[in-house]
Amino acid sequence: MFRLAHLSDIHLGPLPELSYRELASKRITGYINWQRNRKRAMFGDTLLRLVADMKAQRPDHVAVTGDLVNLATRTEIAGARIWLDDLGDAKWVSVVPGNHDAYVPGALARAFREWHPYLVGDNARSGPGRHFPYMRVRGPVAIVGTSSAEATVPFFATGTFKRGQALATARLLSEAKAKGLFRVVMIHHPPIAGAAAWSKRLIGKQFFSKVIHDVGADLVLHGHTHLDTLYWLNGPDGTKVPVVGVPSASQNAGGDKPASRYNIFEIEGGPGAWSLTQRERGLRADGSGIDWIRERQLLSNGRAVDARPREDAETADPFRAEVAGDA
Ligand SMILES: [Fe+2]
Ligand SMILES: [Fe+2]
Repeated sequence: MFRLAHLSDIHLGPLPELSYRELASKRITGYINWQRNRKRAMFGDTLLRLVADMKAQRPDHVAVTGDLVNLATRTEIAGARIWLDDLGDAKWVSVVPGNHDAYVPGALARAFREWHPYLVGDNARSGPGRHFPYMRVRGPVAIVGTSSAEATVPFFATGTFKRGQALATARLLSEAKAKGLFRVVMIHHPPIAGAAAWSKRLIGKQFFSKVIHDVGADLVLHGHTHLDTLYWLNGPDGTKVPVVGVPSASQNAGGDKPASRYNIFEIEGGPGAWSLTQRERGLRADGSGIDWIRERQLLSNGRAVDARPREDAETADPFRAEVAGDA
């Protein structure tokens, strides 16, 4: 069995005292000191507890679907690299960026540089703009990372998925299928109509759904809405592909969104006969500790379990997404 952890929307806390120079130097010197003194101030208790709990589950790989920072300042982006290094080795952690990582023009290029080892595929070609989509193979699983992140005008948090990236994603998914791998696609914005408010939607989701319909995938992971959602996209030959969103890893209990959570996906079986179980773990609603929240089987022997029409999905409430604040 392969166990894949998914967390998202880290939204690294404000960094009032540390300069970029200080932070950059922390990677080489003073790291131990930083661990002791600064970590809590930077990342907050909720996030630290969730990550510690996730590590204790010893997943085989970790997927992080974007919004590592808030305003994408130099300091935040450097701080996020420290957070990533603390999370785990880049071979064990795959990241795609979110809209907050591209908050202002130029920020995304900086994030690509700073977080590079976490954002590249197994056969990485270097150079800005050539990172996405990427593919990594870990055991029986192919992880395809796509980018929907772009700088937007104020009050918008949209993302885009264009034709070029769609074609390249389809190529990677075909390659992975030919190798008999379980195919996971990561994208920050939900590739589903109505899943996010209009001003926060994914532009080009029709390209994404066409790729899934034509080439197929076994699991799509996203963040952005900070909600625990399950949707289904149509795959080839009548198959259904689960699309799973996870709440923000930094969300304290008692807010208007679900508290800090991550998912563990248990993947078993083989080509054409995959089984997939989602186990959700996170802060209890009253904030009293971390516990199992829910468990459900999504795929059994290659077939969708309980693939209800999208309108009936338990969390597919556009109003809930609309009131859901900054994503
Ligand atoms: Fe977002
Ligand atoms: Fe977010």
